[in-house]
Amino acid sequence: AAIVVLVSGSGTNLQALIEACRDPAYGARVVAVGADRDGIEALARAERAGIPTFVLKVADFGTREEWDAAMAGAVAAWDPDLIVSAGFMKLAGPTFLALYGGKYVNSHPALLPAFPGMHGAEDALSYGVKITGATLFVVDPGVDTGPIIAQTAVPVEDYDTVETLHERIKVAERTMLVETLGRMAREGFTVEGRRVRYGR
Ligand code: GRF
Repeated sequence: AAIVVLVSGSGTNLQALIEACRDPAYGARVVAVGADRDGIEALARAERAGIPTFVLKVADFGTREEWDAAMAGAVAAWDPDLIVSAGFMKLAGPTFLALYGGKYVNSHPALLPAFPGMHGAEDALSYGVKITGATLFVVDPGVDTGPIIAQTAVPVEDYDTVETLHERIKVAERTMLVETLGRMAREGFTVEGRRVRYGR
């Protein structure tokens, strides 16, 4: 399976995926990495691994919709089976979802439907929950509302700051991401209503 990964930040999830893909038995490979900004560690990780990259900044387009269509076009050039948002901080628009709905997945640092949005780890800490985690889901037009593929639970410790909690979440998130994407790539998957099932 060919995967395009979209990033905006440090790219530790991307790195875990790149390493998993080195084993041919994993069943997937990262064919390209796209970003909405340059100068980020995630792009450097892709370049070190010899993976082609593209950067499309919203500010370089007249409208958000034009940017969205350009992103869809850039991704389409790689004809991916799966598109993974791994720390990509932009919402997909209608053109992108029309092309890739059902095969665009995102990882979120909280146990959805709790704590959607930009600050999943911080919001869980502020609320005072004792267990949080990460969720892999199929992107739909809402904010972190799509069908859930996998989740992993992480304890919140009394001494946690947003940073220590998010770091603990990211360790579990990487394992979940790598295991789940590998299975999706090898077995295929279908989305039936809110259920995601493996198999072709
Ligand atoms: C992850 O926790 C992701 O869920 C969140 O941002 C983080 C990205 O980390 N949206 P990285 O760029 O993969 O290191």
